[in-house]
Amino acid sequence: MAQVANAITLEKREIPGPRSAELLEVSREYEPPCMADQVPVVWDRGEGVWVWDVDGNRFLDFTSGVLVTNLGHSHPRHVARIREQAGRLMNCYSFPTPERVTLSKRLTDLLPDNIDQTFLLTTGAEATEAAIRIAKRFTGKHEVLSFYGGFHGRTYGPMSVAGNMNTKRRFGPQLPGGILAPFPYFYRDFYKSETEEECAHRCLDNLDRIIDSTSTGDVGAVITEPYQGGAGFIFPPAGWLKGLEAWARERGMVFILDEVQSSFGRTGKLFALEWEDLQPNMVCLGKGIGSGMPASALAGESRIFECMGTGEMSSTCGGNPLASAATHAVLDVMEDESLPENARRVGDYMMARFRALKENYQVLGDVRGQGLVIGLEFVLDRDKKTPAPELTSNLLLRAGEHGLLLGKVGLYGNVVRIAPPLVITEEQAGLGIDILDRALEELAG
Ligand SMILES: Cc1ncc(COP(=O)(O)O)c(C=O)c1O
Repeated sequence: MAQVANAITLEKREIPGPRSAELLEVSREYEPPCMADQVPVVWDRGEGVWVWDVDGNRFLDFTSGVLVTNLGHSHPRHVARIREQAGRLMNCYSFPTPERVTLSKRLTDLLPDNIDQTFLLTTGAEATEAAIRIAKRFTGKHEVLSFYGGFHGRTYGPMSVAGNMNTKRRFGPQLPGGILAPFPYFYRDFYKSETEEECAHRCLDNLDRIIDSTSTGDVGAVITEPYQGGAGFIFPPAGWLKGLEAWARERGMVFILDEVQSSFGRTGKLFALEWEDLQPNMVCLGKGIGSGMPASALAGESRIFECMGTGEMSSTCGGNPLASAATHAVLDVMEDESLPENARRVGDYMMARFRALKENYQVLGDVRGQGLVIGLEFVLDRDKKTPAPELTSNLLLRAGEHGLLLGKVGLYGNVVRIAPPLVITEEQAGLGIDILDRALEELAG
């Protein structure tokens, strides 16, 4: 195991600390238990890639919340712009402001040429919900094709097209018209393909058969994430997205790309669609767009937006001047500090280190990623690939005790999500991997 370079990580800390334990008790009593399960650390403040808890412990953050704080915690330029705007104007509902209209233009200009309008909203689910509704109105068709493992948010529209029962179990009937097809997840391929290329081909080739068998002839839209986040950071083989786009176009379907998680530099490009020169008809943005300030957007073609009449869709806080100003600052910093490039560079370094770790630990079944979004899939045995959710939870706790905060995803809760803020340096990334290595050695060495 490499030497841990930073003294703070050598002290094993007790989590939760006493003040955290008190607040967790209040949380247990006064908050519903439905929120995501986390390592027991009560956050107090953050700076760049560092987070301090209410007991004064310092942690290296490999979560960015949930892939949100791409600029790092409380980036000074982001904070200054938010402070300035908060002192001037925070909300005016749908009255236009310079911040909102210039942001709509700025985002539109950054996206492919076919996209010529942007609708600013507040949450990721609001953007995917709007995309699904608008696509149904535009095409006059109610069926939507989506993919096994897909996650698009927790309101009824996105929930109904999710490919993961964990978000819809025991909520009764979903909206009608959801059609699901296998996503090319090579490590656990539905078609048991020999190569990634074959996996992508089979997933595309079988789409017509799936539609012919399950659709009433009314499919108007297709929605997918560029890589699946909640399902376990699953990256489709190169070419699958481009093939899907062409398939949808040939059939006159609206192609919706859900970049709520994958955009704003996360994969090493401002938008993940840039990797394959995609031209979706609508793109959903969220999370990193505000880097902590709640914001989202639905960008798309004006010929599609035209199907909506005045006042038919708006949002109390959508495009508010505070969130819009914050997003301008996010883009300024992304450009000035070349954060997508940094994500690519540090991400390559991290991938190489994780691939080396895979050689040492049999329980690390798969390592996959692009830029600063990397999934480590843990299994009990390499042959059967039996998911190891308990080991994964213990690993998160152990890493937390050594000063590294991690999250987990995956249908079976056995994928560690590595998603630090995009300002991370190679040295900080190496430190986090050393900690993870140490935690793994203690648990599975
Ligand atoms: C791909 C994707 N779409 C939509 C959402 C929903 O975003 P929000 O939680 O802001 O509603 C998420 C959140 O994790 C996501 O990852």
